[in-house]
Amino acid sequence: MKLYFAPLDGLNGRIYREAHAHHFGGADLYFTPFYAPTTEGLTKKILTDLTCDGLPLESTVPQLLCRNPEHFMLAVAQLANIGYTHVNLNLGCPSGTVTAKYKGSGFLVIPDELDRFFDTVFSALQRDFGGMELSVKTRVGYSSEEEAPRLLAIYNRYPIGELTVHPRLRADIYRGKPRMKVFDLFARESRAPVCYNGDIFSVADLRKFTEAYPAISRVMIGRGAIANPALFLECRGTPVPDKKARLRAMHDEILEENYRRMGEGRNLVCRMADIWNYQIYQFFDTPLAARELHRAKTVAEYRAAANKIFREAPLRENAAFVQTLM
Ligand SMILES: Cc1cc2nc3c(=O)[nH]c(=O)nc-3n(C[C@H](O)[C@H](O)[C@H](O)COP(=O)(O)O)c2cc1C
Repeated sequence: MKLYFAPLDGLNGRIYREAHAHHFGGADLYFTPFYAPTTEGLTKKILTDLTCDGLPLESTVPQLLCRNPEHFMLAVAQLANIGYTHVNLNLGCPSGTVTAKYKGSGFLVIPDELDRFFDTVFSALQRDFGGMELSVKTRVGYSSEEEAPRLLAIYNRYPIGELTVHPRLRADIYRGKPRMKVFDLFARESRAPVCYNGDIFSVADLRKFTEAYPAISRVMIGRGAIANPALFLECRGTPVPDKKARLRAMHDEILEENYRRMGEGRNLVCRMADIWNYQIYQFFDTPLAARELHRAKTVAEYRAAANKIFREAPLRENAAFVQTLM
């Protein structure tokens, strides 16, 4: 079974991914949060970040959010130049500002243009970047499950390296249960190898999925892995001794690296608190300390609240992220 760390904008940027790989690992691939190329391709800052990535290039897949084939290919050329051999196209982002520009899941609303995009991009890839794999991460429709067969027919016309399916509509955002009936269609009829993504929050969830879909050998995990960075190892049956100490070490690496970049201030506190929104499920008896984390105005206050959790709150056995109305 291949297990991938999903892209999570605002959560698992380069510093997070590196810290995860240092202290836990177990993911076969890390997908980066999306980058949106423009007429210049990707910005210098993004390219520097991707060049400095401390993980081997083969284990990181940059994700692009784009509907313009020229912009897309400019970014592909820049990424190939750094040494990347795999890029991913985002057809899932539900954010209103993104979909209003017909990007992310908004691209699903204009399937003819999506078809033309693939036509242009795959021709250019074959002509100029033979070794570059393009994978796609998609929802199963924008506003209706009935869009799925049309989308699948488009995907099946192109040599997509891997099709990651998050079986929700744009309107679902991340709520409700994944629409497994529609996923069945992709599992049965996709020409590209299918990777499943959605609501795998525990080892038991993965077991249930693999029992239902023994032929699917790729699974992408997002929120469940932020909540429990050891989830990939646990899914593989690898013992994780000293889990609390490793969580602490990973936390401290993320905090210190971000502090070096961002310095004092609320932005850093908010970034760390976003991670805690998920990770808090692993700790017992934390409502007060969790409130202190979110109320912290300075990095010093934040450190004190995080220290308190690591010092005083015991870890829960088999704790998993619980989906709320976030
Ligand atoms: C805060 C947040 C940020 C996300 N950012 C991205 C992104 O940059 N690119 C992307 O393809 N999906 C993004 N997603 C979607 C996840 O990759 C994943 O598809 C979704 O969380 C469902 O998988 P899960 O149930 O394992 O979390 C994001 C989701 C969340 C909650």
